[in-house]
Amino acid sequence: MTGPHLRTALPGPNAQAIIARDARVVSPSYTRDYPLVMARGEGALVEDVDGNVFLDCTAGIAVTATGHSHPDVVQAIVDQVRKFIHMSGTDFYYEPQVRLGEELSAIAPMPGPHRSFFANSGTEANEAAIKLARYYTKRQGIIAFFVAFHGRTMGSLSLTASKLTQRRGFAPLVPGTYHAPYANCYRCPLGLDPKSCAAECLRFVEEQLLIHLVAPEEVAAIVVEPIQGEGGYVVPPAVFLHRLREITKQHGMLLVVDEVQSGMGRTGKWFAIEHAGVEPDVVTMAKGIASGLPLGVVTARSEVISWPPGTHASTFGGNPVSCAASLATLKLLREQLITNAETVGAHMMAAATALMDKHRLIGDVRGRGLMIGIELVRDRTTKERATTERDAVVRECFARGLLVLGAGQNAIRLCPPLVLTTAQADIAIGILDQALDAVGGKT
Ligand SMILES: Cc1ncc(COP(=O)(O)O)c(C=O)c1O
Repeated sequence: MTGPHLRTALPGPNAQAIIARDARVVSPSYTRDYPLVMARGEGALVEDVDGNVFLDCTAGIAVTATGHSHPDVVQAIVDQVRKFIHMSGTDFYYEPQVRLGEELSAIAPMPGPHRSFFANSGTEANEAAIKLARYYTKRQGIIAFFVAFHGRTMGSLSLTASKLTQRRGFAPLVPGTYHAPYANCYRCPLGLDPKSCAAECLRFVEEQLLIHLVAPEEVAAIVVEPIQGEGGYVVPPAVFLHRLREITKQHGMLLVVDEVQSGMGRTGKWFAIEHAGVEPDVVTMAKGIASGLPLGVVTARSEVISWPPGTHASTFGGNPVSCAASLATLKLLREQLITNAETVGAHMMAAATALMDKHRLIGDVRGRGLMIGIELVRDRTTKERATTERDAVVRECFARGLLVLGAGQNAIRLCPPLVLTTAQADIAIGILDQALDAVGGKT
């Protein structure tokens, strides 16, 4: 089977029963856009507890890079579990963590030697990067960007400036964090034409932030997503990342790239920053790195990541089972899936762009590889955000057997497993077309 197959009305009876139990015992802070209750998955297909099969263009929020339960990843996990499950790489040694450090060093987007710190999630990786930047530079300030998402623990949350619900009620956050406009050229904060612009939005950093608010020598790092993920799959021009590199170099700050969502082959290269040809000081990773087992990593030049024993550690970080899953994942990415992300991604992007001729609701299609954002607007001239329409399209896709997620206020993101075939990409775009028809945005 390559595509969806629905057997019941959604949600089916088994799904309904589980959702009712969930409402009683699970934190209501989670954001479920539609009632999918998963029973099993294979490749880019997901089966729910009522036997309905869906085509997955979410990969569990850009995580299951190798597809659901890839046999090589499963085998690597089983082999490791049989040997030992945990020993804490903080206090003891084991080879899978070392080998992963070596492999990450081989693919890191800046010259080595490198060292890696192992955590359990994206937010923990960013938390470690913030601490590392402060420790290494002996400075406090961190600059991040509006609409950025870096996680939800206190340090990362202080950098996150995406949705108010994520910050409201949690103040005070970590002091010394500052935000600047991101280069969202579709909605240029300065109203400029991207073709003739040299990332003028960064003048805010140089001529406002670093003049009026914080001295450059007090800023430890600039933290940036090379493609904004949760913010709407916003691709900045290369010049924006180049200028960030220049500013950080000029003032002795670290450039930290958060590749939690954009990394691990999703964009057709190991890391999205490589498309711009910029070499950062620090890279943070998680999500797709271990095909679904929890793992977050900070990789930096060895000279930067030279903090002494006891300064930072994690009981579970770099768990041997996660490391084994990651090693199997990297092998699959290297041998086939990064190339697949590039070719199927280009095909899918072209097909999504072609939908613009038919659906005036689509204001912009952008992305790289299998990281594709489709921004919906009520009017292409005013670019009024089609927020309720976006939510409706996401639900209409679900009703037709396609799993997609929103990103930002009014974009749909396509972040399928990197095993997606061209035929499956066509099925996904076909269903999206129908969902857009159903929401009534026909030209
Ligand atoms: C760019 C980016 N950084 C950090 C995070 C946080 O990752 P986690 O949810 O694993 O803590 C996310 C999650 O969406 C992300 O997209």
